[in-house]
Amino acid sequence: MLKAREAVQNIHAYRPPLAGRTGLRLDFNENTEGCSPRVLAALRSVEAELLARYPEREPVEKLVAEFLGLDPAEVLLTNGVDESIHLLCETYLNPGDEALVVVPTFAMYAIFAKAEGANVVEIRSGENFAFPQRELLARLSPRTRLIAVANPNNPTGAITESETLIQLAKSAPQAVVLVDEAYFEFHGKTLLDQAGKVENLFVARTFSKAYGLAGLRIGILAGDARQLAMVRRVASPYNVNAVALAVLPEALQDREYVERYVEQVIRNRKRLQDELQHLELQFWPSRANFVLVRVGEAHAEFVQSMRRRGILVRDRHSDPGCEGCVRLTVGTDEHLETLITALREVVAELRLRPEVRA
Ligand SMILES: Cc1ncc(COP(=O)(O)O)c(C=O)c1O
Repeated sequence: MLKAREAVQNIHAYRPPLAGRTGLRLDFNENTEGCSPRVLAALRSVEAELLARYPEREPVEKLVAEFLGLDPAEVLLTNGVDESIHLLCETYLNPGDEALVVVPTFAMYAIFAKAEGANVVEIRSGENFAFPQRELLARLSPRTRLIAVANPNNPTGAITESETLIQLAKSAPQAVVLVDEAYFEFHGKTLLDQAGKVENLFVARTFSKAYGLAGLRIGILAGDARQLAMVRRVASPYNVNAVALAVLPEALQDREYVERYVEQVIRNRKRLQDELQHLELQFWPSRANFVLVRVGEAHAEFVQSMRRRGILVRDRHSDPGCEGCVRLTVGTDEHLETLITALREVVAELRLRPEVRA
């Protein structure tokens, strides 16, 4: 019988609950409004010839580099941040190497690292999901070849200071330090200016969240030009599809759309957190477009009750340190109103009281 590599056999299948996602989607941290109308118009004007041709990434890479204030050699467009992670693992990890991840965090770091036969070392975040800098530094070894940090982190919304991440990169020159800024727009602070300056530091960005283009699959990997040249060797020249490349310039140009959306989310994040406080639910202040909330033992019923009201939210109970927690995506004003109304009803229905939520 044909057998997959042992490393692959040892991976737990990651099956995000993608089926039956009808309703208000507050479960995957997507943009709840949809992309810029200018992007949609560009999509509608796509012609058959564009699809017949293999996509050309380079000219758009140049535009993106300009947009970010980087040299084109310091930028690689990828099929979402997921592919950026995959390519880094392919480029740098040998079987038996160590990949360090601070948990809870985004699942794909561990999956792609394990697929290379690397040993994934999970380091628990500190109190209130604080970045465990001391523990991480203590765990570094010559075998450490990848350290992945989402900033802001998913599912907690917690952030790590730039200085901490730079110090980490300098303390582990033998390792890739990936700073995943998928939620950058909702936080506003970046390490992009350090990409290319600190040789082992890579920064990833996505168009899946603030830009509302998760379905197009497009992301950015930025880093030192010589290192990125290595990563390019394992990337398909056609990794980003022609449609995504065709509309990306519009997405970059319509800054007003993204700024307006982000401003709305930041305002609504505060409103949601105020409401959670009012409902006496434990939550963690977030710098992303979602909030992690502890609802307690009734977490699965909570998700079901919300679903009955047409709202999808994500159960994060199984994540380390997230017992009894759910994650709520923050969207537009209208969507927030819907969420808050349902939240009040469900809290009453399930009789969620502070003493039963621990
Ligand atoms: C921290 C983080 N990184 C990356 C991604 C995936 O990004 P993309 O859609 O660009 O692959 C997600 C999606 O949820 C995420 O939370």
